[in-house]
Amino acid sequence: MYNEIDLDQINTNSEPPSEEPARQYYFMAKCREWVQRFEQKNNRLPTACIRTFGCQMNAKDSEKLMGILEQIGFGISEKEEADLVIYNTCTVRDNANQRVYGRLGYLHALKKKNPHMLIGLCGCMIQEPSAVEKIRKSYGFVDLLFGTHNIFRLAELLYRRAAEKNMVVDIWESTDAIVEDLPALRKYPFKSGVNIMYGCNNFCSYCIVPYVRGRERSREPEEILREIRDLAADGVREVMLLGQNVNSYGKTLAHPISFAQLLKQAEAVEGIRRIRFMTSHPKDLSDELIRVMKESRKICRHLHLPLQSGSSRILKIMNRKYDKEQYLALAKKIRREIPDISLTTDIIVGFPGETEEDFLETMDVVRQVRFDSAFTFIYSKRTGTPAAAMKNQVPEAVVKDRFDRLLKEVQDIATGQCGKDTGTVQEALVEDIDHKQPGMITGRLSNNLMVHFEGPKELVGNIVTVRLKEAKGFYYIGEMI
Ligand code: SAH
Ligand code: SF4
Ligand code: F3S
Repeated sequence: MYNEIDLDQINTNSEPPSEEPARQYYFMAKCREWVQRFEQKNNRLPTACIRTFGCQMNAKDSEKLMGILEQIGFGISEKEEADLVIYNTCTVRDNANQRVYGRLGYLHALKKKNPHMLIGLCGCMIQEPSAVEKIRKSYGFVDLLFGTHNIFRLAELLYRRAAEKNMVVDIWESTDAIVEDLPALRKYPFKSGVNIMYGCNNFCSYCIVPYVRGRERSREPEEILREIRDLAADGVREVMLLGQNVNSYGKTLAHPISFAQLLKQAEAVEGIRRIRFMTSHPKDLSDELIRVMKESRKICRHLHLPLQSGSSRILKIMNRKYDKEQYLALAKKIRREIPDISLTTDIIVGFPGETEEDFLETMDVVRQVRFDSAFTFIYSKRTGTPAAAMKNQVPEAVVKDRFDRLLKEVQDIATGQCGKDTGTVQEALVEDIDHKQPGMITGRLSNNLMVHFEGPKELVGNIVTVRLKEAKGFYYIGEMI
């Protein structure tokens, strides 16, 4: 385990080891010497800030980066006025990229004030050659560029940057490696994401994720369970199993195991009270999974089941491998088997060639399934994906009109759905104090909705019982009992 490794015992005068993770511990020890010199000179520790864009995978990656920086000795800061700032980027839609370029101007201004400041960019956007070219050309003040496959090498890259004094670019096109046993600094002491697989093989025609995250790789179940046990021993009560399509977990392992079986094994870990997972692709959600969820005391009553479109014609061009009827049947089966489940989804509006009829099919599914909540997105053209080359892009005004109609519909339905548990008594994991109302705290229900209620801040991290008194559209007001 990483916390048994003592960086002081590493001989930094020797050649770096070639095997991982030993090599990275060697570079952490090297970087720590630099931190110690910084401290002697400036009478303070250097500070580091990581800003995360995008999904849960990126949030988890940032915790790993933070773990490395903490080992090296950086003071971790929330503020970008730091000695090292890393943006962990997302590129799933163009506006995610634009936000990063916009913020880079601000970082440049900070660097002018603090010339020793280091700026790093990593994550999905950096796996795109066009983005790297643009950064090299127009943002020469950036110090470090690395992708999604080699985040575990942060210490080595920092060390190289100190030695070379030039922009360090280290981007791997792909990888088979899953490097275990590196440190992580969790954002919350009581809940944690756990990667169960990396990458994606589905190639939905609009989506860039398979290109920037690489091929699907499942972690060994023993490694996953070991991590969950360690987390439980460290006080974690809720884990979220992470993968782009958890339903295909384990299929390519030397000893294949299904996602449902993995869940059962995770459920057996003592100390873990709740299990969530993200994301579940409708095409291969098994009856076994529904059964395991239904019988489980720990798996939360929440299923995120991205629809993307309600039109069978569009779904086919999107390469989603299910049609409207199959999705509806699946949603119905899940609601029948697990009546208290919360079903949430993602929907894209304005996919190339989407007609008014196609859009109305989406509205029809939304009305039939009555999603408890839905993320709605305007289609964004991603260079290199099959959909980007399609000629029949939908005019912006048409997309905007459909988007507004869809948003209103999903919000109205979600508001109605939120009220359905009023009066019931449920468990909530207290996550934070309620920053808007003194004396109140905020908890997450099994179905992923939040409840605000009176209570002391000492309860943060505990599971408590609350009565849901009043629905407020997308959250509840409750009382502890
Ligand atoms: N693996 C998950 C999705 C990850 S990306 C799944 O298949 O369900 C999260 C969401 O971003 C997707 O569900 C989709 O709704 C949205 N998305 C992906 N590519 C997009 C694009 N090019 N334009 C708009 N939204 C997109
Ligand atoms: Fe993208 Fe489809 Fe993979 Fe999800 S399943 S990450 S939408 S390609
Ligand atoms: Fe974005 Fe990468 Fe996640 S593109 S949505 S951060 S996998």
